[in-house]
Amino acid sequence: MKKIIILLSIALVCFAFVTITDRYIGAKPEFIPASKQRTGDAAKGFAYLTTGDYLKSGIPYSLFMRVTPKDTNNFLQRTGVNKNLSYDFTAVKAPNGELVVAPNCLQCHAQLFDGKLVVGLGNSLSDFTMNRETPALIAETFLKNLTGENAKKYEAAKSFITALKAVAPKLITSTKGVNLADGLAYLLVSHRDPQTLKWSDQNLLSLPDDIIPTDVPAWWLLRKKNAMFYNGFGRGDFGRFLMASNLLTVSDTIEAKSVDRYFNDVLAYINSLQPPKYPKRIDSAKAVEGKTIFMATCKKCHGTYGEDAEYPNLLIPAEIIKTDSLLYTANYSNPQFIDWFNKSWFTTGDHPAKLVPFRGYIAPPLDGIWVTAPYMHNGSVPSLEAMLNSKIRPVYWRRSFSKPSYNYDNPGWNYEMKIEPGNSEVYNTKLKGYGNYGHYFGDQLSDADRKAVIEYLKTL
Ligand code: HEC
Ligand code: HEC
Repeated sequence: MKKIIILLSIALVCFAFVTITDRYIGAKPEFIPASKQRTGDAAKGFAYLTTGDYLKSGIPYSLFMRVTPKDTNNFLQRTGVNKNLSYDFTAVKAPNGELVVAPNCLQCHAQLFDGKLVVGLGNSLSDFTMNRETPALIAETFLKNLTGENAKKYEAAKSFITALKAVAPKLITSTKGVNLADGLAYLLVSHRDPQTLKWSDQNLLSLPDDIIPTDVPAWWLLRKKNAMFYNGFGRGDFGRFLMASNLLTVSDTIEAKSVDRYFNDVLAYINSLQPPKYPKRIDSAKAVEGKTIFMATCKKCHGTYGEDAEYPNLLIPAEIIKTDSLLYTANYSNPQFIDWFNKSWFTTGDHPAKLVPFRGYIAPPLDGIWVTAPYMHNGSVPSLEAMLNSKIRPVYWRRSFSKPSYNYDNPGWNYEMKIEPGNSEVYNTKLKGYGNYGHYFGDQLSDADRKAVIEYLKTL
């Protein structure tokens, strides 16, 4: 009996110790449960994505064609009015029958890579350094002066121009290549009633001091993920988030509903995408070695690949990941965006969505990782080698945006280290939200092991 009591108390002490140390270590990776998605038709989704009217206001076609050069590439092989438009714009009929040109998702979700258009590759060449308010004002003045039958052109452009004027002055970065879509979403909801989605010229929410830049995740990763976005806060029906671009010009919930009906198909298209294969030779012996190291050091967060691939769907808390925290801390210091969303039209009906914030980031799948530089949620790291060795990450680095040049052997952008901040082609990791620290999991590898892991990553 005494023995049992002693054993029991030892067990209890151990148990207490385990729970206390557990609590002391605190943060643990958190599993993201799956949520139900609508099913759809990928081919229809692609057609809607590249020719559909999810934005119903834009620049009148005749004016657009006059001020922008004709694009003869026709990368998407579109016909009719879209044939001579660049892939990232679509011509659509406004409700009053006028033909207008609106930007489409491929502004941010496609990129030219060695002369080919890769749909689904996050556009890491976008330029948010310009203030687009001036062109909006010029177009407005021009259109407002039209009379007679042509006055309809202004009517068709009005909601697009109004939104652009409201958001453009606040959507400016000092560095090319990063994306302000999160800031755009914030600004747009600040002008809209959450239930009716009606536009208000006043800001209805207080705005954060900083608009936080991000990279753009590749679309082919979504199929594996149980939550959307870098901090994994997008839960519930993904189609509802996909259609959120419609907030730029939507007039009311009747329109939102009609657009929403297509986004099951858009999701099916996004889920059908495969990453581009690494086009050069891979040293397969080295890749096999790299796989062994990957399975021991990286798999628990990034999963396995090939046949029987498994993806663990984990959120990694701040204490473990240690990367720049501004993107997720903004959800706590400025909860207005999340509050707006979680009481909005987007959470209603039989396929609702919701936002669930977390202090950390999702560990992304690494399919096609060779082509998606720069790395980290803020695009602060130019190459895979630097991603896996924090000591060589450049503080200031420059790449060319006029002649983008990619390094296949050592995947990432060819870049030049700088000793100080410079023009808009220089990434400055000292700016707020642009930090390149954290994710130290590759640091302890030897140079040879790191090279082997990179060789393996080329196969994903
Ligand atoms: C102005 C640029 C921009 C436009 C236009 C845009 N997106 Fe995005 N998109 C982003 C950025 C940036 C993110 C990442 C934001 C984050 O995670 O914080 C993103 C995230 C996503 C994701 C999440 C991927 C993941 O793995 O979590 C999907 C899917 C997506 N967008 C689809 C679309 C669709 C469909 C459209 C058009 C209807 C669209 N986007 C329009 C910039 C844009
Ligand atoms: C404890 C979990 C964890 C481990 C272990 C881990 N990672 Fe990560 N990894 C993450 C998270 C979370 C991110 C996103 C960080 C961010 O963007 O702030 C990430 C990002 C990355 C990225 C950049 C992805 C992108 O698209 O920008 C690469 C590449 C990567 N990891 C490779 C590895 C390799 C290789 C290993 C093993 C040596 C490894 N990781 C180990 C959690 C982990």
